[in-house]
Amino acid sequence: MIFETHAHYDDEKFDEDRVELLSHLLRENGIEKLVNVGASFEGCKNSLALAEEYENVYAAVGIHPEEIDEIDDEVLDWMRKTASHPKVVAIGEIGLDYYWVKDEAQRAKQREWFNRQMDLALEVELPVIIHSRDAAEDTLNTIKMYNNRHLKGIVHCYSYSKEIALEYVKMGWYIGVGGVVTFKNAKKLVETVEAIPLESIVLETDCPYMAPVPHRGERNSSIYLTLVAEKIAEIKGVSLEEVERITYENALNIYNKSKRN
Ligand code: NI
Repeated sequence: MIFETHAHYDDEKFDEDRVELLSHLLRENGIEKLVNVGASFEGCKNSLALAEEYENVYAAVGIHPEEIDEIDDEVLDWMRKTASHPKVVAIGEIGLDYYWVKDEAQRAKQREWFNRQMDLALEVELPVIIHSRDAAEDTLNTIKMYNNRHLKGIVHCYSYSKEIALEYVKMGWYIGVGGVVTFKNAKKLVETVEAIPLESIVLETDCPYMAPVPHRGERNSSIYLTLVAEKIAEIKGVSLEEVERITYENALNIYNKSKRN
């Protein structure tokens, strides 16, 4: 039984078979629950619609750093209202992406809205899903600040060093591991999985992207998560069942902590 913590089934790459996947195919392949993560405003609304339609689908709402020009006070207000929906389990994906954005003013804008969405998560008492690329230091500093105020979350598609991962683990945050761990050049992520406890890992695809080997480059779906879990089992020297069971509990822990009474 697998808990898929990060998918984008609203993507047009699923137009042909979204209904089959979400209504029965995923379940038949051991994917028990999944969180569809919003990145754009449109994506947030579509995630919510999927969560309302399918019992085993939950939604996260947030504006991705690359889509930050879409966000304003009105969008933030919509997120605030939507956060109380029973199937909304997190604010995300939010964060910093300096890989594509070199302009300092735009980076400052990312930081401003990252903080404002973190403030919102605190206010509505939901965990966060963090996207962070080429922004290790700024992300860690921000998260430390909010961690002190008892905000928790997942660092999704983790791409930094094992040393930084251990800092997140120490704070009780979760590390999202997906298809990249099966790539030949995944040395850094393999070292991270080796270094951190299984109790701090959640399974995620980021589908339709990041398909694991031997499907690298193809459209990804949660069905391939077994390949990710197998690789983690190999790295940690434990059974596949143990990886599935513990990561499932981890996902329940973080997403259920969502509503602190
Ligand atoms: Ni994503």
